[in-house]
Amino acid sequence: MNQQHAAATAAETMRARHSVRKYVPGVRIPEADMNEILRLAGTAPSSWNLQHWRFLVIEEEENKRALLPIANNQQQIVDCSAVVAILGDTQANRVAADIYGAQLAAGSITQQVHDTLVGNINRAYASSPQVGVEEAIRNGSLAAMQLMLAATAAGYASCPIGGFRRDELIKTFRIPERYVPVMLVTIGQAAAPAHPTGRFTLEQTVIRERFPEQS
Ligand SMILES: Cc1cc2nc3c(=O)[nH]c(=O)nc-3n(C[C@H](O)[C@H](O)[C@H](O)COP(=O)(O)O)c2cc1C
Repeated sequence: MNQQHAAATAAETMRARHSVRKYVPGVRIPEADMNEILRLAGTAPSSWNLQHWRFLVIEEEENKRALLPIANNQQQIVDCSAVVAILGDTQANRVAADIYGAQLAAGSITQQVHDTLVGNINRAYASSPQVGVEEAIRNGSLAAMQLMLAATAAGYASCPIGGFRRDELIKTFRIPERYVPVMLVTIGQAAAPAHPTGRFTLEQTVIRERFPEQS
C-alpha cells in the first residue's frame, strides 16, 4: 500500500473520490491490495452486526466481457481492473445464531442477552418479506461506500454502477436466491479524470430540527 495514500485523512479521501469511467486496461490489482480494500469495506456498520454484504469479485477478462452487455455496455466494465458486485443477504437473520453464539462462547454476552437478540432479529425478519430486502440493500450500500473510499485511499479509482440488469447478473453469475444485487463498483487505474460534478449547498440539504409548518 502506497504510504502517501495511507496518510490521507478521511476528509481528504472523501474529497478525492470521484466516479472515474475511463481506466487503463490490463491493470491487475495485487491480491494483497484487493483483499485489504475488501477487508476495509467489511468494517462498515450493519444492523445487529449481521454484515449483510457479500462481494462477488470479477477480474477475469472473459467474465468482464460477459458482464458488459448486462451493464448496458458501459466500457468501464471491461477496462477496469475489477468489478465488485456488492450483494446483500436478504436472510441475514440466519447468521445471527453464529454471530451471537460466538459472543456467548467468548463470554461477552449472557445466554439471556443472546436469546433476546436472536429472538428480536428473527421476529423482525419474519414480520414482512420487505424487511430482509431493505436491510440487505441498506447495509450493503454502506459496505459499497466503504469499498470506494478504501479503493481511493489505496490509490485506485472507482465508480458505482446501478445501471445493470439484475436478473441477468443473477443468472449469469449463478447468484443464489438469498442475495440481492446492491450495486456494481468498478475499480482500477484512472486513465482520465472523472467528470466534474457539483453538490447541493447545506441550505438545500439540511433541515434543522423539523420541517417548517406547511401553510
Ligand atoms: C447507486 C448509484 C448508481 C450509479 N450508476 C452509475 C452507472 O450506472 N454508470 C455510471 O457511469 N455512473 C453511475 N453512478 C455514478 C454517479 O453518476 C456519480 O456518483 C454522480 O454523478 C456524482 O459524481 P461523483 O461520484 O464523481 O462525485 C452511480 C452512482 C450511484 C450512487
